[in-house]
Amino acid sequence: MIDISLQQDQYEVVPNLMQHTLVEVLKSRVKTQMEMNGTAKINVPEVHTRSVSDMLEARLAAFDPESGDAEAENAFYVADLGEVYRQHLRWKTLMPRIEPFFAMKCNPDPMVMRLLASLGAGFDCASKNEIQSVLNLGVEPSRIIYANPCKQNSFVKYAYMNNVRMMTFDNAEELHKIKRFHPDAQLVLRILTDDSKSLCKLGLKFGAPLDTVASLLATAQQLDLDVIGVSFHVGSGCFDANAFGEAVIRARRVFDQAKDYGFDFKFLDVGGGFPSAHVTEGITFEKVARILGSTVDTLFGPEVRVIAEPGRYYVGSAFTLATQVVARRTIHRDSDTVAIEDEQESPSHMYYINDGMYGSFNCIMFDHQVCEPLVLLRDGEYVYGRDHPRLIQEPRGVASVWGPTCDSIDLIAANARLPLMETGDWLYFENMGAYTITAASQFNGFRRSEVLYTTTHQDVIFHI
Ligand SMILES: Cc1ncc(COP(=O)(O)O)c(C=O)c1O
Repeated sequence: MIDISLQQDQYEVVPNLMQHTLVEVLKSRVKTQMEMNGTAKINVPEVHTRSVSDMLEARLAAFDPESGDAEAENAFYVADLGEVYRQHLRWKTLMPRIEPFFAMKCNPDPMVMRLLASLGAGFDCASKNEIQSVLNLGVEPSRIIYANPCKQNSFVKYAYMNNVRMMTFDNAEELHKIKRFHPDAQLVLRILTDDSKSLCKLGLKFGAPLDTVASLLATAQQLDLDVIGVSFHVGSGCFDANAFGEAVIRARRVFDQAKDYGFDFKFLDVGGGFPSAHVTEGITFEKVARILGSTVDTLFGPEVRVIAEPGRYYVGSAFTLATQVVARRTIHRDSDTVAIEDEQESPSHMYYINDGMYGSFNCIMFDHQVCEPLVLLRDGEYVYGRDHPRLIQEPRGVASVWGPTCDSIDLIAANARLPLMETGDWLYFENMGAYTITAASQFNGFRRSEVLYTTTHQDVIFHI
C-alpha cells in the first residue's frame, strides 16, 4: 500500500504496515529540500479514485455548452496514476534485477513524477531543468543519471554543484568538457547498437560505434576520468525484443575491452525502448523481460548494477485525451465525376477538434504514432467504450479529423471511420501518455490540454 498525502506545500509518503517494500518516506527530505530552495507553494491537484470512464463522464456532465466557459470546453486529459503504479509493479515482478530510471522527457507530469519518486524509482534527465525538477522532489542525486551524451557546459557544472555524478558520453570532446567541469563524474559510455527495429532511430544522433571505443577509453584513462560502465538505447518504439539481447552482447564486449585500459566496469544501463502496456501483440514487455533478463544474468555477474531508462513503458497507457468537435465541414462532390468506390472510401466530412498536431498530437509527427478517434459524447449521450451498444448499430462513414490551428499539417486522422458527428460532440483518444503533452506548443494561441487525475489502483491513495 502506498499512501501519498498531499498538503498545501508539501507531500509525504506514509508507509503503511501493509506497504510495498519499495515505498520510502520522503516527507522530511521533501521538506528540507523545499526549505533550502525557498520553494513556493506547489499547486496540488485533486486525485480522484474513479474509473477513467467515470472521470470523463463527470467532466462532460458538469459542462454547460451554453455557458461560454472556455476552460470547461477545452480538451482535457484523464491521467490514471494507478496504471503507472501497475506498470511499476509489473516491472519489479518481471525484471527485478534492473532498476528503472524513468525517462522524464517522455512525460514530466508532476503527479507521475511524485508517484515514481515515492516508489523509489530513479530518473533519466536530459537537461539542467529536468535535473532541477527531480532534485526539487527530494530525490537524492544518486538516483539521477544525466543521460544526454552531448551536454551544455553550464549544465555539466550544475550537475557537479548538485552532486549528480552519473552521466553518459559517446565522444572525446565530451570527455574534455567533463574533465573541466565535473572531474568527479561517474561516466557511462553510450555505445551504438542496431536500432533498425525501432520507430525512433536514436543511433542517427548518439552512440559510439564499437570501433571508436578503444580510443575513447584511452582518452578517459589519460584524463584520469572514472568510467563506470556502458549504456545503450535500442531506439524508442522498438518492435523487436531480440534487439535488447543483441545490445547486451555488445555491451559485454565493451566491458571486456575496458579492462585493457584499467577500468573495472560495474554498471550497465540498458536504456529505453520498452513497450507501453497497450502493446499486446508483437513486442510485449513480457517478451523483452524474458530476453533481456536472461541475457543480462548470463553475461553479467551480480556485482554489476543494471539500470534502464524506460519512458513510454510507464505512461503510455495511463493518459486518455478528450477533445470536442468544434467545427465540421461537409464535403460536397460532383457526383458525375466521382466513382462510387471513391465515394465510399474518401472522407465525406472534416471534423475539427480542440487539440492537434501542434499540441498533444505532435506524437504523430515526432513519435510516429497512429491516433484513433473514438466517440465519447454524441448528441448529448455518453458513449464511452469501443463496443458501446448505441454505436454498434450506427452507420459509419469515412471522415478526416483535424486540429484547431490554421495550418494544414494539423491533421490527426486522414481516414477515420466515424458515425456522423455534430459540432459540440466529443471524441477521445486512448494511450496518449507518451511524447504528447511534453512537447505540446501553444501555436496559434491554443493552450496545452489540462490534466485531471485519478487512481484506479486501490493501493495508491492520494489525499490532501
Ligand atoms: C537517452 C534516452 N533514454 C530513454 C529514452 C526513453 O525511451 P522510451 O520512451 O522509448 O523508453 C529516450 C527517448 O528518447 C532517450 O533518448
